[in-house]
Amino acid sequence: MRSKKIVRLNANENFYGCSSKVLDAIRKKIPEVNFYPDYHPSMLESEIAKRLNLLSSNIVAGAGSVRIIEGLIYSLVNKNEEVLTFDRSFAMYRIITEGQGKVCRIAKQKDYINDINNLLPLVNKKTKLIFIDNPCNPTGTIISHKSIEKLLKSIPSSIFVVLDEAYSEYVTDKSYPDSRKLFENFPNLIILRSFSKMYGLAGMRVGYAAGNEKTILKLKESRIPYPLNYLAIDASIAALEDEKFVSESRKKNDSERTFLYEGLSKTNLRTVASQANFLFVHFDHNMEKENLFASLLTENILVCDLSIFGFDKCLRIGVGDRKINTKIIQCASEI
Ligand SMILES: Cc1ncc(COP(=O)(O)O)c(C=O)c1O
Repeated sequence: MRSKKIVRLNANENFYGCSSKVLDAIRKKIPEVNFYPDYHPSMLESEIAKRLNLLSSNIVAGAGSVRIIEGLIYSLVNKNEEVLTFDRSFAMYRIITEGQGKVCRIAKQKDYINDINNLLPLVNKKTKLIFIDNPCNPTGTIISHKSIEKLLKSIPSSIFVVLDEAYSEYVTDKSYPDSRKLFENFPNLIILRSFSKMYGLAGMRVGYAAGNEKTILKLKESRIPYPLNYLAIDASIAALEDEKFVSESRKKNDSERTFLYEGLSKTNLRTVASQANFLFVHFDHNMEKENLFASLLTENILVCDLSIFGFDKCLRIGVGDRKINTKIIQCASEI
């Protein structure tokens, strides 16, 4: 008997795959994988820069934005300095900081939102780097242009603010920051993006940061040669070129996200409105969470039990298509 394929809704990948143009670009390169890739991925960096109206000296690409996060902490934060982030945020900020023997201080969210007012009192002389994921993983909430501007105006320019926009392409809320515009006035702002989500290239491992030339140079100097593999470079360039794929994925995600959110909101579960490609569901009791996780798995749907990142009593559920989302709502209503 053939086993049914698992529907992976646990890692915020693009449910709709990737652009067919990306697959063509990869196929074209396969016969040449005996060659090393570019020593520095300058072609990709200049394609990204062009789209942001920046110079390639403002862009550094790496094997996933997680590699860039590692590089930022490594090259910008000294042992006696600190990193600051929120309690429910991308767990790697804290894990990597502590892994490098440095201190990561944690501000509390308010109503599942990265509230700047809770973060500002924790800024001190040792603070060097602030990580804000926007949309936030795992809650899917965003903070506005005004909030980020307030933060940047309230802190010394010697503190770097990393705005992690891994899910920015999914956002439909108009109050979302125009980070490129903020960068004009605040050179301590670093914009972080990923090809793993909307572009559907999680398996290729590509991410990048945009920032001022001095900061980016530091990151480039500390990275290993050949940071991106031969296929990933061309795949990312092809992904950038296919704007239609991005706008169609955004549209489908937006309507399915609304459908799933509305359906889950009618159940007893606390579901947070999201601007990303996943929803955060909070339970009163661990048992309820475990029951939903298990019943979805029986339907071959894998979601993320956030206890692996230290977040209790909650699941993060990726947005699927109508059939899958209907199934998720049905399982949730039986909990
Ligand atoms: C907010 C956020 N930032 C960064 C990453 C890392 O992405 P990648 O290393 O695949 O580019 C993730 C992955 O889930 C994420 O959720």
